[in-house]
Amino acid sequence: MKTPLYGTVLFTALVVLAATGAGMAQGTAPPLGLPPVPYPEANPQTPEKVALGEKLFNDKRFSSTGEVNCAQCHKADSAFTDGPLKVSEGINKLTGTRNAPTVINAAYFKTAFWDGRSPSLEDQALHPFVNPVEMGLKDHEPILAIVRTDPDYVKAFKAVFGIEGDAVTMTEVTRAIAAFERTLVSGNSPFDRWYFGKEENALTPQQKRGFELFVNQGRCVSCHLIEQTQALFTDNLFHNIGEGINDIQKDVPALATEFIKAQATMAEVDIKVLSDKRTSELGRLAVTKSMEDIGSFKTPTLRNVAVTAPYMHDGALKTLRDVVVHYNHGGVNKKGDPVNDFLSGGIRPLNLTEAQVDDLTAFLESLTSPEYAQPARTAAAGKKEN
Ligand code: HEC
Ligand code: HEC
Repeated sequence: MKTPLYGTVLFTALVVLAATGAGMAQGTAPPLGLPPVPYPEANPQTPEKVALGEKLFNDKRFSSTGEVNCAQCHKADSAFTDGPLKVSEGINKLTGTRNAPTVINAAYFKTAFWDGRSPSLEDQALHPFVNPVEMGLKDHEPILAIVRTDPDYVKAFKAVFGIEGDAVTMTEVTRAIAAFERTLVSGNSPFDRWYFGKEENALTPQQKRGFELFVNQGRCVSCHLIEQTQALFTDNLFHNIGEGINDIQKDVPALATEFIKAQATMAEVDIKVLSDKRTSELGRLAVTKSMEDIGSFKTPTLRNVAVTAPYMHDGALKTLRDVVVHYNHGGVNKKGDPVNDFLSGGIRPLNLTEAQVDDLTAFLESLTSPEYAQPARTAAAGKKEN
């Protein structure tokens, strides 16, 4: 009987570890509703590397003003976003064009950024430091100067990567940051406990009706995937759902042609999409230079969406109900402008009643992990007071 008992104890320990979410180590079971975290071979996870990554994520010295760190726009207590900001604020309060997506569960995404212009978390971490509206450095040299000389960093890089001095490069800096981000994994929401855990009362009757709408009449699940044993709520693909783009419809063909002709390098694209609102609206086209990707953005996960308002790449939709209404109208904006020619075929009026809109909204509120449930409650309380 010893072996099974040992197995049970080990299993329980894993579940307890997984339930704490943040700080999940490589090899531990993922939380309910999520697959194992994919770790790149070149960047294995160690606790020391994760701790170093967290320190780098929080270091304000890596910005031109010494005031902005990654955490400013990805705050732990706002579910790793900068909500309620519509678009992010970087150095000197300069505003970008896009809403900060959460870093929670970004470990599972096939690409990073709303237009997928970065292939990995390691690559992504290079960008904000040198974006003029984010951390504002001219190049990465000031970061290297600090991590190569600050005694704490010298010690940490030596312990984690076995190197020091000029051998320390942005490769190690970004690997450590990515390792930290891969610990921000959260599932185990009421939805997960109901759907995967078979806990009948984890969802309210209204949320269960909302789930039916999510998979059937609303067709949400065709892009926000729920699979047999896991739900990432994204297909990792890009779609035009009519957000933002309808506002600049008339100008789009000229704007797109001009953009494609300019043959911008990736570094230029990075700056242009975050500093020019109209270019931002071109979406995935900025990466593929293909007209059919006009106004397409990456399907975001819906996990913890109740605590990450406002919504969409431009942060233009204030509440989850506004989002559901947007879909119910088939992507037509509030001004009633005609929908753009590139709208995804999956976006058509849904003919949901007001009560069904409420049900679907309630379902989206069931996707909050316990670690982030407190801010969700505060947000809900705030809504009622206003
Ligand atoms: C000034 C605010 C700001 C700062 C500082 C910032 N970010 Fe972001 N972050 C954003 C915005 C806005 C986006 C979306 C940009 C886009 O899609 O074009 C983003 C996107 C991301 C993504 C992609 C998530 C996804 O779903 O695609 C990750 C990961 C990320 N940031 C991590 C970081 C790290 C690591 C740092 C520090 C090196 C950092 N961010 C600094 C605002 C910021
Ligand atoms: C054709 C694919 C597709 C379908 C169908 C779809 N979505 Fe989306 N969803 C997306 C994309 C792409 C975005 C991001 C669009 C943007 O920012 O412009 C998004 C964004 C969202 C957001 C905002 C998340 C955030 O973090 O800002 C919510 C909430 C959402 N969808 C819920 C739903 C619901 C509910 C339905 C069904 C009524 C649905 N979606 C149907 C692709 C889809």
